[in-house]
Amino acid sequence: MQNTVYLNGSFLPIEDACIPVTDRGFLFGDGVYEVIPAYGGRLLRLSHHLQRLQSSLDGIRLANPLSDAAWEEVFLQLLQRNRERAGPENDQSIYLQVTRGPAPKRDHSFPEHVTPTVYATANPIPAVDPEIATRGIAAVTLEDIRWQWCDIKAITLLANVLMRQRAADQDAAEALLIRDGLMIEGSSSNVFVIRDGVMQTPPKSQLMLPGITRDLVLELARAHKLPYRECDIPEATLRDAEEIWITSSTREIVPVTRLDAAPVGAGVPGPLWQVMTEHYRHYKTAVRSGNAG
Ligand SMILES: Cc1ncc(COP(=O)(O)O)c(C=O)c1O
Repeated sequence: MQNTVYLNGSFLPIEDACIPVTDRGFLFGDGVYEVIPAYGGRLLRLSHHLQRLQSSLDGIRLANPLSDAAWEEVFLQLLQRNRERAGPENDQSIYLQVTRGPAPKRDHSFPEHVTPTVYATANPIPAVDPEIATRGIAAVTLEDIRWQWCDIKAITLLANVLMRQRAADQDAAEALLIRDGLMIEGSSSNVFVIRDGVMQTPPKSQLMLPGITRDLVLELARAHKLPYRECDIPEATLRDAEEIWITSSTREIVPVTRLDAAPVGAGVPGPLWQVMTEHYRHYKTAVRSGNAG
């Protein structure tokens, strides 16, 4: 089945999608990206994702190459053209990337008169692994050695890649990052900690990505009157948590049941995770039927 991608105004088979080796995304990691899930062919929280894309582009001082309506049209085309590759539920995720484009000379400062490279794909979202609901995942803690602009969704992900690999080397599925004694986020996820039955997550700052899934979970908590707090989370609180979850657009809400090889709470996915996952599942159903965005 053909994987059709979007590159600089055209839809084409992925094998034919090529960019020049002078692209600043390739040479400097000079670009930003987004990941947007779509359930039953309908995009989840499109306006939130486009707003975050705009603030990432502002953060790297690059003009948005497309209007919101043009982006939406690209995504809908990709979802449709790749429909056959998705399962019967038609759950796909859009990946989009904008780089500063190819520049004739390799120079750190911004080149003049370059055209950004715009690339987007649609890929099937695999069904949630049933093991996760029964066993959860393992995570390890690591010192957050990234830069101070983690609120920009930059393609420059080497630190995240190295930290995720260190987790994988210890048979863990995520690295939870600690900076100055506080829990910040995962290498590719936000983090929730449950203490005394209250969901806690760090407040937004330049040190973390403002996750769309994080915001949706908080919104669901408000709607269903579940207690939550946005507050600093000292490492000691993390280690004494009843439950820990990570959230992201493609992984949704995942229970962490082992932290640095020690059990989290009872060592199995917790009751609040079950409740929140059910709310999230209902929300996705509403998205599928066009009753939520
Ligand atoms: C570093 C980081 N934090 C948080 C997230 C979660 O963001 P979202 O829920 O918008 O996918 C991601 C997602 O890739 C991420 O890379």
